[in-house]
Amino acid sequence: MAIRTIIEAGDPVLREVSRKVTVFDDRLAGLLADMVQTMRHEDGVGLAAVQVGILRRICIVSPNHDTVYELINPEIIASSGTQINPEGCLSIPGARADVKRPDYVKVKAQDRSGKEFVVEAKGYQATIFCHEIDHLDGILFTDRTVN
Ligand code: CO
Repeated sequence: MAIRTIIEAGDPVLREVSRKVTVFDDRLAGLLADMVQTMRHEDGVGLAAVQVGILRRICIVSPNHDTVYELINPEIIASSGTQINPEGCLSIPGARADVKRPDYVKVKAQDRSGKEFVVEAKGYQATIFCHEIDHLDGILFTDRTVN
């Protein structure tokens, strides 16, 4: 495992649309392990592969220290409600602003072996899922701030 360098806003790679993962191998598992280590090192609650320079549809979400969701090719298949929470991003150090998100999301994704699963989230956890999945389409929370 290794701590990877986090790419910061201003680098055009963060605006790219990540490609689907089609190969579920040891390299993917290694990347996931590095992403978890990097996120924890930076005290983050989520991280997308593009933030470490890998343009693949992979992100992790960790609403608390004991839980890490590994999402490969995630899609939001249902959402409802709205909420406004302050967000930050490891790629935009120091920035924090209110963002409007759904209050509930249902996410379909694959695990590291390619098996499909569905996870539901409410409240702040839903915000993290939305924030990380946005990264896979080149969207940053600063694009969605409310005043
Ligand atoms: Co972010």
